[in-house]
Amino acid sequence: MTKPPVLLTRRIPSAAFARLESGCDVDLHDGPAPLTPDELKRRVAGKQGLICLLTDRIDGSVVDAGLPTLKIVANIAVGYDNIDAPAVKSRGVVVTNTPDVLTEATAELTWALILALARRVAEGDRLIRRGGWTGWALDFMLGTELRGKQLGVIGRGRIGRAVAAKAAAFGMTPVFAKHDMSLDELFVSSDVISIHTPATAETRHLIDRRTLARMKRSALLVNTARGSIVDEDALVWALKERLIAGAALDVFEKEPTVHPGLMTLENVVLSPHLGSATRETRTAMADLAVRNVLEVLAGNPPLTPV
Ligand code: GLV
Repeated sequence: MTKPPVLLTRRIPSAAFARLESGCDVDLHDGPAPLTPDELKRRVAGKQGLICLLTDRIDGSVVDAGLPTLKIVANIAVGYDNIDAPAVKSRGVVVTNTPDVLTEATAELTWALILALARRVAEGDRLIRRGGWTGWALDFMLGTELRGKQLGVIGRGRIGRAVAAKAAAFGMTPVFAKHDMSLDELFVSSDVISIHTPATAETRHLIDRRTLARMKRSALLVNTARGSIVDEDALVWALKERLIAGAALDVFEKEPTVHPGLMTLENVVLSPHLGSATRETRTAMADLAVRNVLEVLAGNPPLTPV
């Protein structure tokens, strides 16, 4: 029996790749850069499955190029703002993502950023490396203690809840927007504000000049969700005006480009979209995407449809 053809837009961990190859005829794009939209359309033609990453933009025209054979688009990410899901689904093609398996990794990175920001870890590292450390002093590089502070969590999905669950370890009180208090109340009263909501038309620039101006001057803003949720121009303005005390960002509006205004500020911690970037989690994400493809191509329901 011939195996169903599948396009894989990036190399994945070997165990997941072996599982995919056992059931499918794999067309792997192994180049250093993502496929161009034209390449993507050319290579998806005749395929039954498409396994893609958040760096691939999948819209109706890509799916049209894969019809009538294409049955599933499996994203190796929990966020799927790179996919026009209504357009794909309206063409009878299944869309899947990779929830659950990356929850803890993303929550851990969120806490890494909160701690780095509150205790000026990245700033201190930069200082030492440029030879700027002249010695210990009682009032040197003072940060902010987390104990006793309020953690405002925007988004009460898996990741938001996992971040909140770790707050007790640091003596922080977690509150959820819309559940424990209004979003506005959360902005006004939280010491650390952490974003865990999907990127949608509604959440675009949820953090803007107006909401930043509502925050405490001592507030720390953390974003490990999606860049479009924070208006970076507004954030740079608020940081320069000292309307908030600092920000830690793992995601950006125009990845991999970072707003130049953020690059020069010491009270900003930047990480290059590493939320799910542990060996364990990336392997599990790839494996889940592969299993979704194998199920759907075998005529079964997907494991994690969106
Ligand atoms: C990563 O950003 C993801 O959505 O999985």
